[in-house]
Amino acid sequence: MSIQKPKGTQDLLPGEIEKWQYLESKARELCRKFNYREIRTPIFEHTELFQRGVGETTDIVEKEMYTFLDKGDRSLSLRPEGTAGVVRSYVENKLYGEPDVSKLYYVGPMFRYEQPQSGRYRQFHQFGIEAIGSVDPSLDAEVIALGYTFYKEIGLKDVTVEINSVGNPAVRAAYREHIQQFFAPVKDQLCKDCQSRYDRNPMRILDCKIDQKFCEGAPTIVEHLDEECRTHFALVQEYLTALDIPFRLNPRLVRGLDYYTHTAFEYKAAGIGAIDTIGGGGRYNGLVGQIGGNDEPGVGLGLGLERILLVLQAQGVEIPAAKPLDVYLIGLGEAAEKRIVGLLHELRLEGLTAEKDYQSRKMKAQMKSADRYNASYVAILGDNELEKGEISLKALATGEQETLPLADVARTLAARLHG
Ligand code: HAM
Repeated sequence: MSIQKPKGTQDLLPGEIEKWQYLESKARELCRKFNYREIRTPIFEHTELFQRGVGETTDIVEKEMYTFLDKGDRSLSLRPEGTAGVVRSYVENKLYGEPDVSKLYYVGPMFRYEQPQSGRYRQFHQFGIEAIGSVDPSLDAEVIALGYTFYKEIGLKDVTVEINSVGNPAVRAAYREHIQQFFAPVKDQLCKDCQSRYDRNPMRILDCKIDQKFCEGAPTIVEHLDEECRTHFALVQEYLTALDIPFRLNPRLVRGLDYYTHTAFEYKAAGIGAIDTIGGGGRYNGLVGQIGGNDEPGVGLGLGLERILLVLQAQGVEIPAAKPLDVYLIGLGEAAEKRIVGLLHELRLEGLTAEKDYQSRKMKAQMKSADRYNASYVAILGDNELEKGEISLKALATGEQETLPLADVARTLAARLHG
């Protein structure tokens, strides 16, 4: 039996990959304007990084990590998300205040052992940004605005931004008790996971699909914010309004990672069945310290690229497709066939996309290839033409034919097609 790809993974094939390249180039372009610079961190890290960073009691760390011992008996994990690795690298490489806030972005694969479904994979890709080094609420708004602008620029419609404040550690500790009190009477009726969350991470109960019926009327954290948190949250909203970013307050928004403080947000869009979250992020003022650095605040986001493509498809948004071939070269006769090897190279060096046949097929089959490549021109060189120093050219769209001097054909076509 042939070997197949692991469950929950995808092959990104030619034809599809152009869409990925398009999203990535849009992400890079946008980051340049917002002054974020690319960072590439390892795909695997010490398991402890995610335990400390993402949180021991989160689903991600408890159930979803690909963790293994390497030959040196070290526990390593494939990264389930990007923030912890970026923060580790920030601390390790002392990227403090370079030159002000460190503004970093990444695009790459993440790994979570989840039950695959449409929009949920075991290997998926995120475009993420992290801004480390400032508590300024305008930075929270900038991060939210960058994500929103990204969706907009690639043509995604009807994206909703939901925001909440999850407070600071003191507020959360007090809120935790309120939540426990609220769920205490129904504790035994909660699902198994939530019964254990009750003691270890009770806020996560609010996020449980199964136990939504028990969540009605639960106290929200925004009701319990202190002065510092309230002011920060109000300013974030003020800036979002100033930036013309529409948002909705969602006091029930709790994110699946433990590092968040203050602002938490998600982007929602319909089109992938039961899943509607296409991106999310928030502020993490304690994370740099937890990972062993100076106590520096941060804020960031992660957008799932698979989900974006699914929603684009559901909305019928066309993404610029693969560029067609400029020239398909056909050589007829022994000498001409040899000559087109060099000519093909010349065309390519002139910046044209050019191809020839490598199977010694008949002229008719080669014309078919040219069609399938959607070539703008077919250039045919016969031994006769070679002797005369000419080549004949056919524009496939119009059928128009012409003869050009062989010595100039590369330059002429480059000027014609690419100015
Ligand atoms: P997250 O909400 O866990 O946040 O993931 C961000 C996005 O990644 C999700 O909204 C979704 O689009 C995509 N995603 C997550 N899991 C899957 C999956 N199994 N299959 C397909 N797509 C998925 C984070 O990862 C944080 N690091 C974001 C962040 C950055 N917060 C601050 N900075």
